Amino acid sequence: MEKVKKIVVFVSGNGTNMSNIITHFKEDKTVSVSHVFSNKKGCLGIENAKKAGIETITFSKKEMENGKINAVLTEIDPELIVLAGFLLKVSDSITSAFENKIINIHPALLPKFGGKGMYGTNVHKAVIEAKETKSGITFHYVNENYDEGNIIEQYDCEVLSTDTWKDLQQKIQKLEHNNFCAVIEKLLLN
Ligand code: GAR
Repeated sequence: MEKVKKIVVFVSGNGTNMSNIITHFKEDKTVSVSHVFSNKKGCLGIENAKKAGIETITFSKKEMENGKINAVLTEIDPELIVLAGFLLKVSDSITSAFENKIINIHPALLPKFGGKGMYGTNVHKAVIEAKETKSGITFHYVNENYDEGNIIEQYDCEVLSTDTWKDLQQKIQKLEHNNFCAVIEKLLLN
């Protein structure tokens, strides 16, 4: 029988993308979300993962930096680590142990609007402020530098001159929810 491919999801906040991923792969016989990791103990993502019956692991920044989380991940041996709104920098020990096995979703068209501090609403506000006419989402591999790993796929959307950052956030969330699972499937099944 074919081995089930394990995915581990990292979140720091609401985890709406995580919830979609869990639901999508729930009945899947070849791919399963085995664990959800978070640096934020009580975040909604962790609560919802628990409700969905997924094993959760919360940890401090120190525990990621001292190798503890790398050891836990090595034991789990996931096929793919998916950052879905995870806001800490992944430690070098993890990026080197799981080279080309960690992906991130970023709510803009990298290389624009990436780097330290560029997450969530900060990104949408910066895009509106810069009067961009286009934004979108980027799926990319994670390396030792923030938002600099190789790009896997990008999807764009229009930004109207009347759009507020909240309007843009809604457009981006829709793009994310519509495309995330397909990107994961493509990577795992190829
Ligand atoms: C998503 O928009 C994701 O692209 C962004 O955080 C949000 C998480 O939403 N990630 C970053 O900004 C990473 N730099 P969610 O918790 O509802 O899935």
